[in-house]
Amino acid sequence: MKKVLITRKFPEQFVTPLREVAEVIEWHEELEVMPRAELLAQVGDVDAIWATLEDRIDEELLDRAPKLKMVSNLAVGYNNLSIDLFKERGIMSTNTPNVLTNATADLAFGLLIATARRLVEGADYLRAGEWKGWSPMQLTGMEVSGATIGIIGMGRIGSAVARRSRGFDMEVLYHNRNRKYEHEEMYGFRYRQLDDLLKESDFVVVLTPYTAETHHLIGERELKLMKKTAVLINVSRGGIVDEDALYNALLNKDIWAAGLDVFEKEPIALDHPLLTLPNVVALPHIASASVKTRHDMFQTNLEALLTFIDDDKPKNRLT
Ligand code: GLV
Ligand code: GLV
Repeated sequence: MKKVLITRKFPEQFVTPLREVAEVIEWHEELEVMPRAELLAQVGDVDAIWATLEDRIDEELLDRAPKLKMVSNLAVGYNNLSIDLFKERGIMSTNTPNVLTNATADLAFGLLIATARRLVEGADYLRAGEWKGWSPMQLTGMEVSGATIGIIGMGRIGSAVARRSRGFDMEVLYHNRNRKYEHEEMYGFRYRQLDDLLKESDFVVVLTPYTAETHHLIGERELKLMKKTAVLINVSRGGIVDEDALYNALLNKDIWAAGLDVFEKEPIALDHPLLTLPNVVALPHIASASVKTRHDMFQTNLEALLTFIDDDKPKNRLT
């Protein structure tokens, strides 16, 4: 029987089918990451790991896991996996594309509106008992309808956000490694070089994968190019935005606000300077967190693991 390590407590209905065909070891917490030392101690004789985006499957781990042949990652992003080493060592890996596209695009748009229209600030204001009555310019924000949105990374999620933007009569600019001519023709989205996108957009949405090339893609120089009324939204990976530069830009009013679902270090420290700013809406990495989507993600990974256990080639392979 193959041995599978699951690094969290996942809903039982997605683990039972695995138990029937494999020996399963689980971490007992749903809300807490399996400690690194525990993870390293457990991988000695496992054939497969069912990982989350917080588990680094890197050289140190692979060196201790001589039998490892498969990693199924409960995320579409896979910057936590040392993919080059996986290729070198013949280790398969799979992720969860497609099933989370809509939920993530919905959240991106929700966060955009929440940030532009100061929803969290307004709700806190009401609950704090500060609401004295309707007031002409109170809690006024940035208009979403008819604004220009600039999407960095026009993949599956980027294009789902762009299609939602059309419902708000927004002009859609995008930047991507490859031009998407079919999108330009079909929907009227317009390609821009990164600097031009930053200069022209009212909303900049980061949706590119996190790689060595995109580390701190948005830094001091890029933030200075943005409009002073612009809003930055990041639902991709924290490391794409230089948080020190972002803090300074928000403090100095180089940009107007930021909506962040991801951070350089997660969970973000409660004393992080960004959390002192009223013009930051911060969420705990929940872009794909609808019940349906999370279930679809579990199912996608489960099927990949069952296929691997059957000695077959799973779908959604990264390596
Ligand atoms: C979430 O961040 C994911 O990559 O699926
Ligand atoms: C606002 O509530 C309005 O009626 O304009």
